[in-house]
Amino acid sequence: LRSVGILGTGSYLPEKVLTNYDLEKMVDTSHEWIVKRTGIEQRHIADENTATSDLATKAALRALEDAGVLPEEIDLIIVATVTPDMSLPATACIVQKNIGAMNAAAFDLEAACSGFLYGMTVGQQFIATGMYDKILVIGAETLSKIVDWTDRGTCILFGDGAGAVVLGPTEDGMGILSMTMGADGEGGKFLFTPAGGSRMPASVDTVKEKLHYLKMDGSEVFKFAVRIMGKAAKEVIEKSGNNIEDIDYLVPHQANIRIVNSAAKKLKLDMEKVYVNLDKIANTSAASVPIALDEAVKMGKIKKGDLVVMVGFGGGLTWGASAIRW
Ligand code: ACO
Repeated sequence: LRSVGILGTGSYLPEKVLTNYDLEKMVDTSHEWIVKRTGIEQRHIADENTATSDLATKAALRALEDAGVLPEEIDLIIVATVTPDMSLPATACIVQKNIGAMNAAAFDLEAACSGFLYGMTVGQQFIATGMYDKILVIGAETLSKIVDWTDRGTCILFGDGAGAVVLGPTEDGMGILSMTMGADGEGGKFLFTPAGGSRMPASVDTVKEKLHYLKMDGSEVFKFAVRIMGKAAKEVIEKSGNNIEDIDYLVPHQANIRIVNSAAKKLKLDMEKVYVNLDKIANTSAASVPIALDEAVKMGKIKKGDLVVMVGFGGGLTWGASAIRW
């Protein structure tokens, strides 16, 4: 099997910023409460004319430029999202058209906030076996479109954005060393959007009852996240043949600073070795890990030869992690 690496990264955030102070005017909350309980200070929000594919397209073009790869060289586009432009066609097909990747197959993948890590694992298989050479994996979301802006328990947590990587063959021993994916469907009830699918098709009543919005049991998701982040990261480190002391940099899903802190503690990692941007962009679901990765790489926090661990969790419930020799 061939070694598979990340050839380039890119990300994009919509311009408009919504601060905690703005939220104070919308729901019964405070800047202090949000910062203390989550670490979030602000989030980027897409305007009414911007959909997930628009953000994904911009992130993809930046990743292609960074990798020095042309759109026509791309064999497959995977878009991980829970907020597709529409249920049909796939957002990946819209991105394929937008960037002119005429030789690429394209599909969407839904594993909530773990979607990007799932997408990396899927993409890796095609390149490792030699079936494909260059794959775009994108995590893109406009959570603001499915959040109930009257529910203080959820609306403070999320933001919009997109991140992308170009995967390709790399020298032996470099790139993706190990991956893991997992799911626990029993926990699906803790994070879901009830209506708009085949179980409860859209109707006047579902709209009136706000059943198209994201529903969450925050404390259940919190407990799960704290348990799974350290476990998944440890698993990929072991599979990669390294020890947790060897980790140079951790790129975790950005949901809540208390969850990130607890993962760092379990891995005995100094917070200097952990990328955090949730104060500025909040939880962007499937876009969270690739945006954080792109920023960390561009800021020079991740250097060639570093052992990097990416780890995420989300609705499903799902989780994923990856150890990479950069
Ligand atoms: N402002 C002020 N008070 C609030 C707010 C708010 N925005 N939200 C909740 N409260 C209140 C609650 O009503 C509660 O009041 P009560 O005690 O009178 O009932 C009190 O604050 C404490 O609420 P808790 O839910 O216990 O607060 P907690 O410390 O657990 O924080 C939070 C809640 C931030 C949601 C936390 O549970 C969390 O981050 N959970 C994980 C969520 C997550 O990561 N979700 C994304 C998963 S990824 C994906 O796939 C999309």
